[in-house]
Amino acid sequence: MPESKSSAPQTSFNPEPWIRPNIRTLNPYHAARDDYHEGILLDANENSFGPAIPTDLPLHRYPDTRLNDLRQKWAGFRGIRMEQVFVGVGSDEAIDLLMRVFCEPGRDEIIITPPTYGMYKVAARINNVGVSEAELTKNFELDARAVLQRVNQHTKLIMLCSPNNPTANVLNQVEIERILKDFNRLVVVDEAYIDFSDSGSLCHLMDAYPNLVILQTLSKSFGMAAVRMGAALAHPKVIEWMMKVKAPYNVNQLTADAAMLAFDHVDKMREKIRQIIAERNRLAAALADHPDVETIFPSDANFLLVRMRGALEWYKRLADRGVIVRYRGDQLHCGNTLRITVGTTPENDQLISELYDTKNASDH
Ligand SMILES: Cc1ncc(COP(=O)(O)O)c(C=O)c1O
Repeated sequence: MPESKSSAPQTSFNPEPWIRPNIRTLNPYHAARDDYHEGILLDANENSFGPAIPTDLPLHRYPDTRLNDLRQKWAGFRGIRMEQVFVGVGSDEAIDLLMRVFCEPGRDEIIITPPTYGMYKVAARINNVGVSEAELTKNFELDARAVLQRVNQHTKLIMLCSPNNPTANVLNQVEIERILKDFNRLVVVDEAYIDFSDSGSLCHLMDAYPNLVILQTLSKSFGMAAVRMGAALAHPKVIEWMMKVKAPYNVNQLTADAAMLAFDHVDKMREKIRQIIAERNRLAAALADHPDVETIFPSDANFLLVRMRGALEWYKRLADRGVIVRYRGDQLHCGNTLRITVGTTPENDQLISELYDTKNASDH
């Protein structure tokens, strides 16, 4: 049965009892630069003679441990406060960290809602944390009742993904809020693809629901997957626990600098989103006419989930012709599907022409 949640105001929110006992008593690593960071810096055993490679960048210095400037920029972009932002090495770091902070190995559990992003389960397995599965409906909708029925005293995190990977749809906000209200631990909503959707981020719910954790990334809408920069947005008390457990210099300086720039180019990001959505619509229209295509699922993301006859054969055939898509037919409710990232116009043209090339024609 779900544990009932007190309606206490946010000021009394205290996640401490949910923290793993060994973390609660942890004396975090104190980095050399936490106290002083200007002057003649002889405190951190850096190479005072500079980097071995030819560069004007101060690569011989350890990066900032708290990255407040970047956290401030992210917060400003999403209309929240700096204290509500954790930045890390992709959102994958935040997923792993949440498990390490909140889930006792060999005892605690998370709930996931398949079909969904595979890293939640992988991170749980790596951390020896149990995984309970509350399926999405056959239409890929979130069923809050099914999720809450799976809650037990060891459930520490509920992982939701909206827009969901691989199904591409935004989850129903009413159902998400039901879970936030009725579950008295953390509900994580992964918004990796949120900027491609009309629905907008759930950041505005963070004050109403202090147990809400939102994951975001620069890998998708900002087109900066190589930089490895993601964030967890949550109540400051949750963020502080994550900061205590993270590696002191988790984000490297090159990444931090590139990420700062990202928020100065939001207009460019939005322009690329418009282009991707236009291409997504064009691609969907072209696929709709294909004789093997059965369903093109509605997309709030930068990819399409497509059900087609002979999906596995198409996957291999396309790969042989140099067009790599993702076979998702092995995922729950996703039989015979391909997940296709929206490419550039020439890339999509190539995909379409391979699909319509009669030499490739399916014989099902
Ligand atoms: C739902 C979802 N979350 C997170 C990620 C990974 O994000 P990052 O590159 O920030 O680790 C992905 C990548 O595909 C994803 O699909």
